[in-house]
Amino acid sequence: MTEQANQPNSYEAKDAASIVHPLTNLKEHLEKGPIIIRQGEGIWVTDIHGKKYIEGMSGLWCLSLGYGQERLVAAATKQLQTLPYYHLTNHKSHQPVIELAEKLLKIAPVPMSRIWFSNSGSEGNDSAARIVWYYWHNKKQPKRRKMISHLRAYHGNTIASASLSGMPYNHASFGLPLEGFLHVTPPHYYRYSKENENEEMFTSRLADELEAKILQEGSDTIAAFFAEPIMGAGGVIVPPDTYYDKIQSVLKKYDILLVADEVITAFGRTGNMFGTTTMKLVPDMIVCAKGLSSAYLPISALMINDRVFSAMATESNEIGVFGLTFTYSGHPVSAKVASETLDIYEEENIIDHVRQMEPFFLNGLNELSSHPLVGEVRGKGLLAGVEIVANKKTKKAFDPKLGVGKYCAERAEFHGLIIRAIGDTISFCPPLIITETEIALMISRFKKALDDTLVMTNKY
Ligand SMILES: Cc1ncc(COP(=O)(O)O)c(C=O)c1O
Repeated sequence: MTEQANQPNSYEAKDAASIVHPLTNLKEHLEKGPIIIRQGEGIWVTDIHGKKYIEGMSGLWCLSLGYGQERLVAAATKQLQTLPYYHLTNHKSHQPVIELAEKLLKIAPVPMSRIWFSNSGSEGNDSAARIVWYYWHNKKQPKRRKMISHLRAYHGNTIASASLSGMPYNHASFGLPLEGFLHVTPPHYYRYSKENENEEMFTSRLADELEAKILQEGSDTIAAFFAEPIMGAGGVIVPPDTYYDKIQSVLKKYDILLVADEVITAFGRTGNMFGTTTMKLVPDMIVCAKGLSSAYLPISALMINDRVFSAMATESNEIGVFGLTFTYSGHPVSAKVASETLDIYEEENIIDHVRQMEPFFLNGLNELSSHPLVGEVRGKGLLAGVEIVANKKTKKAFDPKLGVGKYCAERAEFHGLIIRAIGDTISFCPPLIITETEIALMISRFKKALDDTLVMTNKY
């Protein structure tokens, strides 16, 4: 903690004494305390001591339109005054959710039939897993229970979505993943390719691996494959161009459902409205959250195609009710804010803006490729990862115990930039409204953090 903050009555001390923080070393937090953010404007946040930071991660990959969007505030206020709550159970509905569902179906990247609403990406993926099981029950193939996803995938943190996730920290000491949640090699050529293997050979090997896994488990036991078009929290992994084509052929061959987790990639992040378009996927369901409301309120939307929805309708008719429900499913205030967010994306041509900013952003980061610590720069649209390595030639990583990535993120904070270290990969996901000048400033602050990190690593 800073000296000023190390007072018993400071907010930092009160925080450490009262809050359990996610993705945080809880013991270390008692010593270190939090950075407490007081306000935001555009791509900037200010902490309670007046220090300003560039919000290089859009919070948690979500605040697409940045801070200070008056239209979203007005939409929420008006809805709070008119109808602050209603639900969707037992044939009830309300206008904000109907309008939002219509808009989503209109912009869906592949034909979709219905929208299932919940409050977070985790609930969206959890619901998708449940609906997959429901679907196969209806198809009289109840043995199809197993889910396949990538190692290093991040699909959320309910029990099912954490099981789908392939990050070791989601599983360790929690006794996860649940049985029947299987993981395959992530499509990360830089880290997972073999010597003398080109991208084409790499993606063919991964498709073969998937097929072998399906056959080994029994193809009639595999229910669905979950995938992020571009993997985010696993280290911003952009699959090679031919990857999804080959994977989808295997899934089709064994009639396995495909769920695209677009919690990060939807709504312009990759330079198209959906990552599904960028990576040429044809999913049966698409999970969206985060940018759906630009994070102003919690909401997620699961798009469901007709093949799946017809089965759900028949099955619920047999049972008497579709037995999945959340109190805040399609909450009217969240729905209204999400609707307004979609209007802003359209009216302000956010996709065009992302496409215009992409070269400044990715070229700027790519210029750091010559830095002694940078092994790989990867990204699409306004989403990128910079992998720090001990040896550029051999791609050797630093000993994780050194916490090199974490140190780099701390130095970036010192220089007024919030970014995220995923192991030794530094991720960037700035608000989509970022300008060319702000991108340059963000990268120059990151460069300072990298230089500080080089000094630190030279000690080893
Ligand atoms: C791809 C992906 N899926 C799902 C989730 C979980 O979303 P939430 O934290 O809203 O539950 C995240 C969160 O980062 C994510 O990145």
